[in-house]
Amino acid sequence: MTYSRLRAATMATVALVAAGSAVAPEAAGAAPGNPGAPRYSAGAASVGDPYFPDEGNGGYDVQHYDLNFSYDPATRFMDATATITAIATQDLDQFNLDFRGPEISSLTVNGHAHAFTRDGQELIVTPRPKLKAGQTFTVVVKYAGVPAVITDPDGSIEGWVPTDDGAFVAGEPQGTPAWLPTNDHPTDKATFRFTAKVPEGLTAVGNGQLLSQETSDGWTTFVWDSTEPMASYLATITIGNFVVTESTTASGIPVYVAVDPRQVAGSASAVSQIPKMIDFFSSKFGPYPFASTGAIIDRAPNVGYALETQTKPIFSSAASVSTMAHELAHQWYGDSVSPERWSDIWLNEGFATYAQWMYTEYNGGTSVNSTFNSSSNYGRAASSSFWQTVLADPGPVDMFSNIPYNRGAMTLHALRGKVGDETFFRILREWAASHRYSHASTADFIALAEKESGQNLGNFFDVWLYQKGKPTTW
Ligand code: TRP
Ligand code: ZN
Repeated sequence: MTYSRLRAATMATVALVAAGSAVAPEAAGAAPGNPGAPRYSAGAASVGDPYFPDEGNGGYDVQHYDLNFSYDPATRFMDATATITAIATQDLDQFNLDFRGPEISSLTVNGHAHAFTRDGQELIVTPRPKLKAGQTFTVVVKYAGVPAVITDPDGSIEGWVPTDDGAFVAGEPQGTPAWLPTNDHPTDKATFRFTAKVPEGLTAVGNGQLLSQETSDGWTTFVWDSTEPMASYLATITIGNFVVTESTTASGIPVYVAVDPRQVAGSASAVSQIPKMIDFFSSKFGPYPFASTGAIIDRAPNVGYALETQTKPIFSSAASVSTMAHELAHQWYGDSVSPERWSDIWLNEGFATYAQWMYTEYNGGTSVNSTFNSSSNYGRAASSSFWQTVLADPGPVDMFSNIPYNRGAMTLHALRGKVGDETFFRILREWAASHRYSHASTADFIALAEKESGQNLGNFFDVWLYQKGKPTTW
C-alpha cells in the first residue's frame, strides 16, 4: 500500500506524503506506435534488498491480506485460505509472491483458476486475463499442511514455531512467508485481517483489534483486524493457552495482553507498566500510531528473543520492564516508520534501544548519560570488535547483534548533545509524523536532522554511521 492511496482511502489529515514503493504508471510504458496500449511484462521477482535478495516483488502494491485458517497444535496442521487484494503498478503477465508455506491446492486471480510454479520462496503466477496497470486484482490461495520454521543468517529461528501449547508466530526479517503468501518487504505495507479457528480453550492472538470470538463444536474462532498499514514482518497470529487481560490507557487506547500462565509472575511488572510506557513515549515521540496496544507473552524457549509485532509485541519468555519498553517504542520506530532497506536496521534498533534508556531514566533508574558511557557502550575499548562494523550496513548476520542496538542508541545520544534537547526531540517527532505508516532510509534521517537543526551534520553522521572505529570527535 502506498501512503497516498491510503490517505485517499482512510485518512483525513496527513503531514507529508512519503515516497511509496509503487512504480510510477508511466514506467510500464506504451507499445511503440500504439500509445496507451498495454505492454505486458513480468513483475520483478525481488525488490532488490541485498540482505535478503529473494524478499519482496515488483509490479503490484498489496492493499490488504485476509487469512482465514484453522490450526490444530496436536497435529501442527494448518488449513488456510489467503485472499490478497493488490493493485497492478505495471501491465502484468506474471507476478511473484513470497511463500514458503505448505502445499497449495488452488490459486485464483480475479476468480480464474491458475497454474502456478514454486521455486524456493517464489510463488510465480501467470494471470489470464493479464492485468493492466492500475487494475485492482484479488488472488486467492488455498493451502494446507505444516507451516515452516525459518532459520536466519544469525542462526535464530522465526516463522511458525510450534510450542507445547500452540505456535509462536514471528517474522522478522523473513518469517511471514512461512505461513502467508506475501510481498515480503517493509516497503509494501497493507492492512490485515486474520480469522483463526483453534481448539476450544486456546486463544489465537493477532495484531490489531479483536472483532469477534465465537465457540462452537469444540473450536473457537478469533477475528483480528489490523486497521493501519503493516509491514509483513510485523504480522503475528500466535496461538496458545493464554491469560487475557483487557484495559485502557489513561488516554483511552485499548490494551489487550495475553500471557502464558507460566509467565504471569515474571512479567507482572512489565505488563503493569504498559500504559505508563505508552503515555511516556507519546509525550516524547508524538501520538501513539495505532488503534490499540498490548503484548503477547508466550513460552518458546528455542526462540529466545522478543519482537515488536505491530500493536502487540511478542515475547518468547517472561517480559522484563526494559524489553517491554524497547518493543513498545518500536511501535513508533520500526512499525509505523519502517526501514527502507534492511541495512537501515539501526533506525529500528538504535531508536528502540535509546527509548529503552530514556524509560529507564524516567523510571528512576540509570541516567541516559551514564548508560551511554557504560562499559557496554561508549566505555568499550577502541580495539573492541564492536567498533569494527559500519553501523549503516551491518550485514544480515549482525543486524540483530548489539551493534545496531547499542551503537545506534549512542548515535542518537551524540546527536542530542550536538543539536540540543529541543531540536533533538523535534527531529524524533517529525521522523514519526512525516513517515507515519511508511518507510524511510538513513539518508532521509540525515536530511531531516540537518533541516531541523540547521547544521551541516555530514561529518557527524560519517563518524557515527559510515566509518569503522570508535568515534572520538564529532
Ligand atoms: N527486532 C527484535 C527486537 O529488537 C529482535 C529480533 C527480531 C531478533 N528478529 C530477530 C533477534 C532474529 C535475533 C534474531 O525486539
Ligand atoms: Zn528491537
